[in-house]
Amino acid sequence: MPAKNDLITLLNAQKTGFSLSGPFYTDADILAADMEHIWLKEWIFAASAAELPKAGSYVTLQLGKFPVVIARGQDGVVRAFHNVCRHRGQRICSKPSGNAVKLVCPYHQWTYETDGRLLWARDMGTDFQPSQHGLKPVHCEIAAGMVFICLAQTAPDFSGVKAAADRYSAPHRMDDLKVAHQSRIVENGNWKLVLENNRECYHCAGSHPSLCRTFNDDPDLVGADDSLSSPVGAAHVNRCEDAGLPSRYLISDNEQWRLVRIPFVGDAVSYTMDGKAAAPLIPGMPFANAGSLLFFHYPNTWNHFLSDHVLNFRVLPISATETEVVTTWLVHKDAVEGRDYNLTRLTEVWEATNDEDRRVVEENQIGINSPAYESGPYSARQESGVIQFVDWYVSFLKRAALAAQSAIAAE
Ligand code: FES
Ligand SMILES: [Fe+2]
Repeated sequence: MPAKNDLITLLNAQKTGFSLSGPFYTDADILAADMEHIWLKEWIFAASAAELPKAGSYVTLQLGKFPVVIARGQDGVVRAFHNVCRHRGQRICSKPSGNAVKLVCPYHQWTYETDGRLLWARDMGTDFQPSQHGLKPVHCEIAAGMVFICLAQTAPDFSGVKAAADRYSAPHRMDDLKVAHQSRIVENGNWKLVLENNRECYHCAGSHPSLCRTFNDDPDLVGADDSLSSPVGAAHVNRCEDAGLPSRYLISDNEQWRLVRIPFVGDAVSYTMDGKAAAPLIPGMPFANAGSLLFFHYPNTWNHFLSDHVLNFRVLPISATETEVVTTWLVHKDAVEGRDYNLTRLTEVWEATNDEDRRVVEENQIGINSPAYESGPYSARQESGVIQFVDWYVSFLKRAALAAQSAIAAE
């Protein structure tokens, strides 16, 4: 169990271009440091806004020790709260999602408005002030139709990512989409293995027969760098930009998030077995052959915005070696299942891909659990995205851990 000093020693010992040392993937104390410095400080993707279609819709999630509820108020505004009753602390909403006129604590029925105000508490005496006992708010923002929350007291600036993600996703009309399907899987692997696996396609040809029918695994397209280094990538970006689709590679200064639109293989327009559309063209998209707008935001989401549907992926750590991955498929709200789209056809490629990735991650974890594991070299050509993610993680965690250490020393 490394103490805080050991964390910094381990981070300093980390060689660029090599996988992390074993404790980063296995140790509960390192996960606690990840939670303290990253997950409870940064903006975390919590839900697709389409999961909250009307006033009273709510979703819940567990982020570390914090149960959180996100609700759409009567005024249409989406807000997040600590899902903890202000009476004696009962978790208020226990279902993953639902619809409620009011948020009612099941223990003694204290009743909250969906904007967090306490409306009613029985027999609390004349001195009792409901206004002092509203639900505790959690920072909440929406970007690209995705609800992000932040549990820090002071949240990092979100305006840059919001402006960029809203602009790039605007043609996909995120406010007009609905949830067609959602899947939840638990992978027996550390959250960083899940992220690393997502950030390269070195493994795609060997693992993803369905995905590879349409997804181009050229590292020039899917690596860490500008897709313009690929001739088909450059042609695609130029064609899409000319049609008014923001597509050019854009990465934040701190490399925490990135947007880029990349082409599919050949004439494919969607993640389907035959490459043809799975759902009606989203109004706002100028043509079907728009490839996929890729958006990642560390530590917990990657996303694909297509001309006919959108895929949001949410990653949450459960323990050092267990990670939940929720995938949400969104289509235009007017599309009718059975008439305009077939659910199996819409979901089968990524259902298979998620399961293939789960197996890869779980086998990776089993190998790393061995005392024989040592950090191995990433392929600079094929795994530039993983190097970028790991560099972000190491430098971010080191900065945060050192800052916390000096804050303690100054006390
Ligand atoms: S704990 Fe919620 S009403 Fe008592
Ligand atoms: Fe994969």
